[in-house]
Amino acid sequence: MGMNIAIDGPAGAGKSTIAKKLAKDLGYIYVDTGAMYRAMAYYFMQNHIAADDTEKIAKACETVDISIEYVNGEQSVLLNGENVNGVIRNEEVGNMASATSVYPVVREKLVDLQQRLAQKADVIMDGRDIGTVVLPNADVKIYLTASSAVRAKRRYDELVAKGQECDLDAIEKDIIDRDYRDMHRETSPLRQAEDAVLLDTSNLDIDGVVDAMKEIIRRA
Ligand code: DC
Repeated sequence: MGMNIAIDGPAGAGKSTIAKKLAKDLGYIYVDTGAMYRAMAYYFMQNHIAADDTEKIAKACETVDISIEYVNGEQSVLLNGENVNGVIRNEEVGNMASATSVYPVVREKLVDLQQRLAQKADVIMDGRDIGTVVLPNADVKIYLTASSAVRAKRRYDELVAKGQECDLDAIEKDIIDRDYRDMHRETSPLRQAEDAVLLDTSNLDIDGVVDAMKEIIRRA
């Protein structure tokens, strides 16, 4: 069993940016679990399966193949063998992932994949239920958060940098709705594990967060 670092927190708290950087510095493998829920959501969208069509969703979970591949340390999510990294990073897919990740059939499938990855290697894994459900015995657990206004602005800057058109208020509203859904669903809701360290990144830049995380890991 490798070293396991679990990072949870709401959308836009900086989890993936930080976890990626930290993994590189520490020589760990970064596992982005949100990308797996996004790949499933993308499949549902492509196949015109509605977020409330539980029958079709359950059926799809039996046959859809999600796997992970690492190329130069970058995670690629393969949906039925095809790299979907380029098409899952938008708000539409993010919202569909939030809506369809409420189903136990979807979660069981992906949690199993996540646990198998963590057994094989030293991983930094980020998501919503990593410290609570996926890796309850993780060596270090960190709960990253920031105000919804700060998180909306970060998401906005990220999208603008990619040349996507967007509206800051709409993004903040989306974030608040998504937080609510992720925190109030019945199965594996987003919450801070009892033994997780809370880190509010509202007033920190990336290097500030990475340094704070290294200190938390060192102490553990
Ligand atoms: O982190 P993200 O924005 O890529 O995640 C997209 C959605 O997937 C998120 O709103 C909720 C869901 N998700 C989840 O339920 N459990 C995880 N471990 C990761 C993501």
